[in-house]
Amino acid sequence: MPEIVFLLNGETVRVGDEPPTRTLLDWLRERRGLTGTKEGCAEGDCGACTVMVTDERGARAMNACILFLPQFHGKAVRTIEGISGPDGQLHPVQDEMIRHNGSQCGFCTPGFVVSMAVAHANGATDWNDQLAGNLCRCTGYAPIVRAARAAADRPVPDWISADIAFSLPEILPGVRGQAAPAGATLAMPGSSDELADWYAAHPDATLIAGATDVGLWVTKQLRALMPVAFLNGCHDLKEIGVTDDGIRIGACVTLSDLRATMAVHHPDFAELIRRYGAVQVRNAATIGGNIANGSPIGDGAPALIALGATLHLRKGDARRDMPLEDFFMDYGRQDRAPGEFVEAVTIPRQPDRLKCYKLSKRFDQDISAICGCFNITVSDGTVTAARIAFGGMAGIPKRATSVETALTGQPWTEAGIAEANAAWDKDFSPMSDMRASAEYRLSAARNMLKRYFLEDTGTGARVMEVQP
Ligand SMILES: Cc1cc2nc3c(=O)[nH]c(=O)nc-3n(C[C@H](O)[C@H](O)[C@H](O)COP(=O)(O)OP(=O)(O)OC[C@H]3O[C@@H](n4cnc5c(N)ncnc54)[C@H](O)[C@@H]3O)c2cc1C
Ligand code: FES
Ligand code: FES
Repeated sequence: MPEIVFLLNGETVRVGDEPPTRTLLDWLRERRGLTGTKEGCAEGDCGACTVMVTDERGARAMNACILFLPQFHGKAVRTIEGISGPDGQLHPVQDEMIRHNGSQCGFCTPGFVVSMAVAHANGATDWNDQLAGNLCRCTGYAPIVRAARAAADRPVPDWISADIAFSLPEILPGVRGQAAPAGATLAMPGSSDELADWYAAHPDATLIAGATDVGLWVTKQLRALMPVAFLNGCHDLKEIGVTDDGIRIGACVTLSDLRATMAVHHPDFAELIRRYGAVQVRNAATIGGNIANGSPIGDGAPALIALGATLHLRKGDARRDMPLEDFFMDYGRQDRAPGEFVEAVTIPRQPDRLKCYKLSKRFDQDISAICGCFNITVSDGTVTAARIAFGGMAGIPKRATSVETALTGQPWTEAGIAEANAAWDKDFSPMSDMRASAEYRLSAARNMLKRYFLEDTGTGARVMEVQP
């Protein structure tokens, strides 16, 4: 592996003798003796392994269990051992956890404290969201949230601010990416051009963006992945460009960054992203990975399809575009050639009419049973255009084209919707699985359309939502 350099609890470390798919968690515990960072699930679900990761985009909480060492190249990492000060001074969140009895068995506590320290550093006070990725089995969340609230007004300690001020490119010029020598089985490209060259020459390679899927192939399926390319150095793929015509989202934009942009343009998409994994997952997961994995229950695709998004693919110097829905051909099969990668996705600019409804067994940190996204245009009481897309209703993310056709040109009334309801069976024959039965899925889809209508015509329908 090329040498990986990062700051660990304030100290520069260089790692060159590890397999590139060694997780940060294993390395911290086994090679550095930093056993405060715990392993609960090893699949991104529990937050016991949370570390603070800082780069030019700020401080973020991330799950060390599913992220690989090369993903930390050029960043500052702080584990629970580095949350207290160099002379043992407690961080304000640690102090308040003690005062508010925020810990019992203590297994989850390091992860909580790191998540709380990140929220504290960022001035974030939406603690239910900030801590949704940390699970506690014995204390209960109220004392922990009380501790976070009590710490909020206390200053950010110097040693944490030092990470925020830190910028590795200043001390390591040229650290952003490392072009792979020809024939190398590991690439850390520094741009999409470098990636395109290398991937065209290694079309059997695995691309690793946020690793929130790929990480589990290693930790749960024990798969060997070589050759691999890490995309975290491709800074040009992390850009979002907003013009009068469209919003172009680079493949490596994280769900957290996408959420911030969508809050401005399509707030319901942003709200859907709040339900996507939890903060640690959103800070790593990319929209390119979410599309490329072809999951029938991924949350990004239905919203993007409902917005009429165009997918941009690239292989070497050749580029092609397609409506996003055409990318998903069949279960596990996408229209992507070997050596071709997702470069970006573009949403056309439009008045915001999008509503997204995610149904899952748990509100936070759960995969959708059904995700329905509706974008219906109404003019003078008549439906003039409709785009409706679903996850969880077929083997791929799929449009409800028959329902769209049945609605278009009809009056925007409850009677008009009832008439269109007959078309759902033409669009979908969902399966029954542990998340939901086929009947439940179909009836929920019909009810989502009704809900869209009610919300659109001024009847509040979020009656079951528990507000903090
Ligand atoms: C705890 C947890 C909760 C989750 N919750 C949700 C959820 O609520 N909703 C949801 O939709 N998903 C969820 N996921 C799944 C996962 O987070 C998403 O699918 C994520 O967007 C994948 O992006 P990534 O960058 O991590 O992809 P990676 O894991 O890096 O890659 C995923 C796949 O895409 C390929 N790939 C990555 N980037 C590209 C590219 N640019 N071009 C071509 N191929 C590429 C990889 O080779 C791999 O096959 C969850 C995952 C975890 C672990
Ligand atoms: S060990 Fe559970 S999220 Fe990492
Ligand atoms: S204190 Fe025991 S799991 Fe949280």
